[in-house]
Amino acid sequence: MVASLWKCVFSKDDSEWLADVVRSIPLTLDYWLYQKHLYPTDLRQSALKCLYLNRTSFSGILHESAGPIGGKAQKNWAVGCRFNREKLSSRILELSRLSDRVISVSEHSWVEVCNEWSNKGKGVFFYLDPPFYHKAERLYRFVFNDDDHSKLRNHLAVLERPWILSYDNASEIRDLYGSYGLNARIIDNTYSAHPLGGNSFIGRELIYSNLPVLPPPARKKAKHVGLSVRKLEKGNPILENLIRIRIHHPQIPFQPDYERRAAIGKNG
Ligand SMILES: C[S@@+](CC[C@H](N)C(=O)[O-])C[C@H]1O[C@@H](n2cnc3c(N)ncnc32)[C@H](O)[C@@H]1O
Repeated sequence: MVASLWKCVFSKDDSEWLADVVRSIPLTLDYWLYQKHLYPTDLRQSALKCLYLNRTSFSGILHESAGPIGGKAQKNWAVGCRFNREKLSSRILELSRLSDRVISVSEHSWVEVCNEWSNKGKGVFFYLDPPFYHKAERLYRFVFNDDDHSKLRNHLAVLERPWILSYDNASEIRDLYGSYGLNARIIDNTYSAHPLGGNSFIGRELIYSNLPVLPPPARKKAKHVGLSVRKLEKGNPILENLIRIRIHHPQIPFQPDYERRAAIGKNG
C-alpha cells in the first residue's frame, strides 16, 4: 500500500486523480470501515486506502489492529480531524511536480534494493528505516526477527556507500551496533500524525551512520517532517549524552566525549 501511494503521487494522471478524490471523500466512520476492509484491486485504490487510513487511523498506523481516530464512539475526536482536504490535495500535486527527481519507487525487500543500488556507481546514499525492534508487530504488517536485524547490521558493516540508519531506542540495537564504532546520535522523535496534534512527543530514536560527521540537528524553526532532531539540552544526564556524540570513525582519531570531559575535569 505504501509503495502504491508514492507510485500514484509521482505519476501525473494518478496524482491528479488522487488530489481530486481527497477533496470530496467522505470523512465518516462508515467510510473508514469501508476502507479498512477494502481489498484494493488496482494502484489508485491501494494508494487511496493507504492515504485515507494513515490520516484517519490512530497514530496514522496502517496495521489491521489500528482503530479510527476518535474510536467507535467518535466522542472527543472525529475520524476526519486530521484529514485536511485542501492541504493534502495541494501537497499531492506539489510532490507530483517533483517527480522528475524520483528515479523509482519499489516495494522490494531492503536486501534487493541495497544490492541493486550499491552497484550503481558513485552518488548513491542509503537512508534505512527498518521496522522498530520493540512493538513492531503492532505497527507494521512486515516485521524483522532477530536474525533480520543482524543481517542488516552485517550488511551495513561492509557497505562501502554512505548510509544513515534510524531505529527505536532499544538496548538490543545498541548492543548490536555498539561495538562497530559508528557515528551515533539519539534524536527526539515528534510524530506529526499523532492524534493529539502536531508536535506531540513520542520518544527517542537512534541514528547510526558511517558518515565521518553526522548532519547537525535541525534548526528549531525547520519545517516539521515528522521527525525532529533536537539539540541536547545542557545539563541533561550524562548517560543519555553518550550515544549522541560522535563515537568513532576509522579515519578520525577516537576519543569519546565522556572520556574527554573526564580528562578535562581531572586536569583543570
Ligand atoms: C520504521 S517503518 C518505515 C517508515 C517510513 N520510513 C516512513 O516514514 O513512513 C519500517 C518499514 O519497513 C517495512 N519492512 C519490513 N520488512 C521489510 C523488508 N524486508 N524490506 C523492506 N522494508 C521492510 C515495514 O513494513 C515498515 O513499513
